[in-house]
Amino acid sequence: MSSPALKRRTLVKGMTATLGLLALRGFTVQAENPVHFTQGIASGDPLQDRVVLWSRVIPGSGAHRELTSQWQVASDAAFKKIVSEGSISTDQARDYTLKVDAQGLKPGKSYFYRFLCDGVSSPVGGTKTLPKGKVREFRMGIASCSNYPQGYFNAYADMAKADLDCVLHLGDYIYEYADGVYSNPIAVNELGRRVKPDGEIIALEDYRMRYGLYRTDPDLQMLHATHPMIAVWDDHELMNNTWHSGAENHNEGEGDFATRIAAAKKAYHEWMPIRTRTSDQETIYRNFEIGNLADLTMLDTRLVGRDEQLEYGKDMGEDPRAFVAEKLLKNERELLGQDQALWLRDTLKQSKQRGATWQILGQQVLMGRLNIPQLDPELIEQADIPERNKNFMRGMAKLAALKMPLNLDAWDGYPAARERLYQDLVAHANNPVSLAGDTHNAWAFDLQTEDGVAVGVEIGTPGISSPGLETYMPIPPTDAKQGLLDASPELVYADTSQRGWTLMTVRPDSVRTRWRYVSTILSREYSVSESEELVAPAGMRRFDKG
Ligand SMILES: [Fe+2]
Repeated sequence: MSSPALKRRTLVKGMTATLGLLALRGFTVQAENPVHFTQGIASGDPLQDRVVLWSRVIPGSGAHRELTSQWQVASDAAFKKIVSEGSISTDQARDYTLKVDAQGLKPGKSYFYRFLCDGVSSPVGGTKTLPKGKVREFRMGIASCSNYPQGYFNAYADMAKADLDCVLHLGDYIYEYADGVYSNPIAVNELGRRVKPDGEIIALEDYRMRYGLYRTDPDLQMLHATHPMIAVWDDHELMNNTWHSGAENHNEGEGDFATRIAAAKKAYHEWMPIRTRTSDQETIYRNFEIGNLADLTMLDTRLVGRDEQLEYGKDMGEDPRAFVAEKLLKNERELLGQDQALWLRDTLKQSKQRGATWQILGQQVLMGRLNIPQLDPELIEQADIPERNKNFMRGMAKLAALKMPLNLDAWDGYPAARERLYQDLVAHANNPVSLAGDTHNAWAFDLQTEDGVAVGVEIGTPGISSPGLETYMPIPPTDAKQGLLDASPELVYADTSQRGWTLMTVRPDSVRTRWRYVSTILSREYSVSESEELVAPAGMRRFDKG
């Protein structure tokens, strides 16, 4: 797959390396070790005429120096028809990452791309631009919550093989924990999926090293080499349960919160194929037009405008009703923040004005009302879990009787902000579809306002490898599902025990969703089972339940 020029350079390079130290015109020249593209390649944030290309090139000698790499986009795998090319330099200051916005491309078209440095070629990747005008079908793979020390990324491997126009990653692309925390001992000890660095990631170098480890995973490399990715961060690219000025997993001994967040954001922008605004690493909310079929609006519900989460244990006290009235329902509490909410309203208006059929929100946390299920007390007592987990479940059973939400870190913890968003979606969108990650389980909801007006549909994607509700509620999945359906009138579909990803097919007349579940994450041998298909017809603002 090498071009003639590359072959020539490779030949020269090879000769130099073979000769070792050369005496040339009186100077001694040290032959260099070849550079490496160890962490593969990636593409992302496709538009109609451009796409972000990513790689990382490392000096072979180990000594720091500036490296200049060529990049090429071609319409053929042999790189005979190059349509866009250029060069870019990198060094230690950006962790040797390479990121370019390759322009001059055509809409709805597949391309090949690669980087070339010192005669060494990166792997060759495939990518695709977004379509323009009339679009008959657009296929998206949706992922979230890929935790390296929990097991293999078999779901990524399955996504890589699928026929997709792009991949969405809704966050928790990495996890920040130390070795041995939130991990599966089998994956760590028997499969060798031990994190680097060993400690919790806090400084810039830590975050960089963690991304570097994840990008050595062959399934993740294959996914990036195959499809363009549109990604947003959730909490674990930063730290657990982050909000705009703090996080559950950050304490004073770990230094200044703002410094740590700045490090996490810098590493994210260095390592992810996201179109970075050079002056602003804060704003990751952005919009993608998918012809006249849809607008895909990526949101930040995690960091930029989120007020602090409530917690039952910390904030409720003795009177749950007072907690709801005085804290949970407080009107001022924000999840998007005012600037992002206004931007979203404008984006929805523009989408409707230009006649896009679907308004798809790519965001982190679950939007539909998911209440604590009322479980048979016998199921709790029979469950094979430690006593303190049983105590937790007994406490939850009391809240279930009051129809309290299961997860206060989701939109359920910000009901006033959710109602404001719902009013905007009712007024300014044609057919809203909200996507969520974060929970590690699969969900579908019919969304409705407090007055019961249909808003749109929501699809929640399961974790790639992070464990789901089955670890917190270790009861038979059919009982868990039934309990949740009974407690949550908006809930249409739930799977509480499987890892996988979501295949969404967007057409002018419908959005069709199937979940693909992998049989195991503790072996490279796995099978895939596919769920029933859920159909949301255009014009209905809810699922067609036949
Ligand atoms: Fe997660």
